[in-house]
Amino acid sequence: MRISEAISQRRSIKRYTDRPVSREEVETVLAAAALAPNHRLTQPWRFYVLGPQARHAYGLVLGGRKAKKIEDPVAAQAMRDTVAQEHRRLPLMIAVAVVDNENPEIREEDYAAVMMAVENLALAAVELGLGTHIKTGAIMADPAARAAAGLRDGERIVAILNLGAPAEVPAAKPRTAASALTTWLD
Ligand SMILES: Cc1cc2nc3c(=O)[nH]c(=O)nc-3n(C[C@H](O)[C@H](O)[C@H](O)COP(=O)(O)O)c2cc1C
Repeated sequence: MRISEAISQRRSIKRYTDRPVSREEVETVLAAAALAPNHRLTQPWRFYVLGPQARHAYGLVLGGRKAKKIEDPVAAQAMRDTVAQEHRRLPLMIAVAVVDNENPEIREEDYAAVMMAVENLALAAVELGLGTHIKTGAIMADPAARAAAGLRDGERIVAILNLGAPAEVPAAKPRTAASALTTWLD
């Protein structure tokens, strides 16, 4: 597959088939991620591959956060359980973390490098017939979410990636042409 095809075919995938993602496939997409450009070659990315138990634990945290807005305790518990089960049923989740750096310039560069790694991973997944969905949000800093993903001290989650064979590939979302957002200078 040409890179241009992978770029244009990539979508955020919400629904996956039951087909498991093999360890070899995970290793292939992570190898692509670790080839991302990276100033000073700090290699700041850390990958946590979440199996069913870890996904369930992460889903419980996310469900618990959603449940805080629900007054009825039975409905709140149902929300926690539903979200936990949804996460357990995902073919695979990867928590992508960055190693924190005290230097603000390196910190920003390292975050950018990790996000380039995320894009490499997403494109490599397309080549394997897999899809991804990048998830972010305040939950990433929640100590319970960090614990569920097994994070070490000195690291922070920058994205949660769902990975699997797409059950449905949505149409491309309309985007502004790059030419309309480009300024050419002499
Ligand atoms: C840094 C980043 C964070 C994202 N966070 C979320 C998220 O928290 N929840 C979500 O549903 N989608 C999230 N997305 C996916 C975007 O919503 C998606 O890329 C966008 O709608 C364009 O759709 P496409 O990926 O199919 O082209 C995120 C994407 C990026 C790059």
